[in-house]
Amino acid sequence: METAMRQRGGREKNAGHDAVSTRQPAPSGMVYHHRTKIIVLLLLLLAVLARVFLWGGRVAEDPPPSLSWWQTTIIYQIYPRSYQDSDGDGVGDIRGIIQRLDYIRSLNVRAIWLSPIFRSPMRDFGYDISNYTDIDPTFGNLEDFDNLISAAHDRGIKVILDFVPNHSSDLHPWFQLSRQGVAPYKDYYVWTSPGEPPNNWLSLFRGPAWTLDSVRGELYYHAFMVQQPDLNWRCAQLVEEMNNVLRFWMSRGVDGFRVDAIQNMFETENLSLNEPPSGDPDVEKDSWYSLRHDYTFDLPEIGGAVRRWRDVLNEYEALDGKARYLVVETLFDNDVSIRNQYYDYGADMPFNFDLLRVNRSCGGHCIQHYVNRELGHLSQGQWPNFVVGNHDNPRVASKMGKDFVNAVNMLLLTLPGTPTTYYGEELGMSDVHVSFDQGQDLQAKGQGEEYFRKYSRDASRTPMQWNEGKHGGFTSGCVPWLPVSQTSSYENVESQTVSSQSSPLNLYRKLAVLRNEPCFQYGGLEYGVVNDNIFSYIRSTPAGESYLVTINFGHDVSIDNFADALNGVRLGEITLTTGNLKSGKYHVGDKMDLYQLELYPGEGLVIKLR
Ligand code: GLC
Ligand code: MG
Repeated sequence: METAMRQRGGREKNAGHDAVSTRQPAPSGMVYHHRTKIIVLLLLLLAVLARVFLWGGRVAEDPPPSLSWWQTTIIYQIYPRSYQDSDGDGVGDIRGIIQRLDYIRSLNVRAIWLSPIFRSPMRDFGYDISNYTDIDPTFGNLEDFDNLISAAHDRGIKVILDFVPNHSSDLHPWFQLSRQGVAPYKDYYVWTSPGEPPNNWLSLFRGPAWTLDSVRGELYYHAFMVQQPDLNWRCAQLVEEMNNVLRFWMSRGVDGFRVDAIQNMFETENLSLNEPPSGDPDVEKDSWYSLRHDYTFDLPEIGGAVRRWRDVLNEYEALDGKARYLVVETLFDNDVSIRNQYYDYGADMPFNFDLLRVNRSCGGHCIQHYVNRELGHLSQGQWPNFVVGNHDNPRVASKMGKDFVNAVNMLLLTLPGTPTTYYGEELGMSDVHVSFDQGQDLQAKGQGEEYFRKYSRDASRTPMQWNEGKHGGFTSGCVPWLPVSQTSSYENVESQTVSSQSSPLNLYRKLAVLRNEPCFQYGGLEYGVVNDNIFSYIRSTPAGESYLVTINFGHDVSIDNFADALNGVRLGEITLTTGNLKSGKYHVGDKMDLYQLELYPGEGLVIKLR
């Protein structure tokens, strides 16, 4: 692991550490002798100084790895509809995000990823795009977007956009022309001859993945909603068209992309092949999970597509030397090597969603299992990452309980690699009950009231809770697009900033600062005590600081002896706590006896060892 982390060379080199050529033509005679002596003496002096410096414990590694911006920042996901409404229409917008950039900076976050803001009929809230190079009026316009880029960059914040290559909206002009058989658009989508569907393929949103189009009289394939026809990546014009989409946004200053639903991008060419049953007894029979996706998921052709995007990103990197970031959405897979292929394809990382699955029945061993699915399976040069929440999944406070919010943020921000935080998780926001009538997530509504609760993603998309005011300060309008949590009166950015030291927000900010330590940025990780309750690990660099992080994810109080894990080190100083400490024994700055460390469920400590 440690080697993997150290080997990674960022493309945006840290100029200060670039090797300087020291080769000189060898002079001759006496001059040579004299100079050599001086040089040798100087080198000796330098070596002595360097050792003193290292022993002083300040320099972590020689030379420190040069990391790219996306390796040192937290990535903060904004769901633009829900962040901040600036015009009172009840829906968040770009100007609203601009208003909140100082807040984002106060989190020590240096990169934001925006869920789609492009022109869209909003059947899937922007994941159904009808114009890839324009902003939807709900969110603003291109001028607002340019302002966002410059305001973010002024504050040292990078901007990452969502890129949705698998499908467009059925209202995109490409699809309209494709239906009419107009070249070259007729081949932009995946069509098959009229009649019965050619195979048993299913949509991720349930039901058949083929729909008959009345205009063309043929069936088209859609991995998602009927209104999200899959684009045909075997069509060369489409490939180039999408390269130009990336160029369009990079020319406007965008720093990277999150690629949506990448695993669905290719389907096998032989449409007569049925997918075999998955054998999963717990799923409805028309559920996507009832099949094994041999012909529609993770096809090797995706590799070529990613490599081409990387080339396009490199065009821009070559202009200014600044790294462009590419992260791809890979769903949980039983075989880690499948998602790790995306590193080889040229992505900086595939999202690691393992920790999304964590719930209250996942204790210390279980957390270690998930962490190790990542850390134990990366090859040299592959950079780890962890995600605990997003716009498709329940929030941490609802999966794990409020008592575990700080514990999970402590875990996320002290593990190796790049953490991604979904907006509101820094406050420990909970899922909000959204009734069928209030429901907005159309794929879930389409499945009827009976299934709505199970499939709706509305609960974790509710407005950001800024203050105790009306609608949590999200909108000055009458009706926010989704209900604001009733807890917003006491659970909000303002109250958590001024109130107790241990509010989730205050802890989040401190953890985000602590992450700047070399040992958290690129140091190794060794597991410490791990049992049904405790998950703990030591982060360190060979010559620098070293910290123990220990968290109780279980159901019982645990008293542990770290003597073996720490090779006999007995004392450490508390740097941060989850703040909910029941025993009241521990305070920041206290020296701890690590042979007898007591933690209740939901409690965690960061302890400085040296
Ligand atoms: C991704 C998005 C999800 C969207 C789907 C289809 O999984 O995260 O929100 O519905 O792709 O675009
Ligand atoms: Mg608005």
